[in-house]
Amino acid sequence: MINNDELLPEPIPRHVGIIMDGNGRWAKQKNISRSEGHKAGAEAIEPLMDSAIALGIKAVSLYAFSVENWIRPINEIRGLWDLLEYFFQHKLEAIKSKKIQIRHSGSLSKLPPKTRQTIKEAIEATSMNRGLILNFCINYGGRQEIIRAFNEWLSNTKNPEKITEKKFEKFLYTFGMPDLDLLIRTSGEYRISNFLLWQLAYTELVFTDVLWPDFKPNDLYKAIIEYQKRERRYGGI
Ligand code: FPP
Repeated sequence: MINNDELLPEPIPRHVGIIMDGNGRWAKQKNISRSEGHKAGAEAIEPLMDSAIALGIKAVSLYAFSVENWIRPINEIRGLWDLLEYFFQHKLEAIKSKKIQIRHSGSLSKLPPKTRQTIKEAIEATSMNRGLILNFCINYGGRQEIIRAFNEWLSNTKNPEKITEKKFEKFLYTFGMPDLDLLIRTSGEYRISNFLLWQLAYTELVFTDVLWPDFKPNDLYKAIIEYQKRERRYGGI
């Protein structure tokens, strides 16, 4: 049920990227730990997925952990792995019944084996689903993705002189996902922070002051209403 009169039936972004920022500040305001803030942040995800499905969005990419986040205190990082494990273990049945396909962007190799295993199991268990693609960007960096794609292309091509955008995109994590139409960043920060750099070329950007744990379906609708007011010219007039 979409209860917002201003929202038009179209255009609906096919692929929405979200920089889920502000868990720490949300926790600070409430005088609770940063880990509690991340926990509340993880709880915000499911209702938004339901709304994304109801709206007909095809893919959502969530920035859950960047390659730069390793400099955080070890306890916070461990807490995030525990939270990811908890999320996939407890939400997997709901994810499966909603026909959501879990994908991952980034490198899982540095994650604790149990977390890695849990994520891989969720990806495998949902790989045949053809509903919403839910792409978790974990240990992800946009520059790293581009360099990795280039190296993959290099070792997979017989004719390294000729590269096109189309060929190159086959080596990005997001291959097969629709173009990124909308990027939302919460918490009043106006940065891209190494997120989906290649994919952002013609994306509409929406920034909101709402802290991530407070970001509710109506905030998603508001972002899409703003998107619907934009004139996308792709360099034309
Ligand atoms: C940024 O807020 C948030 C992160 C670095 C982590 C995002 C993670 C979640 C929303 C939960 C992940 C869980 C699952 C299941 C995906 P911040 O900590 O930088 O906030 P601050 O800027 O206010 O300190």
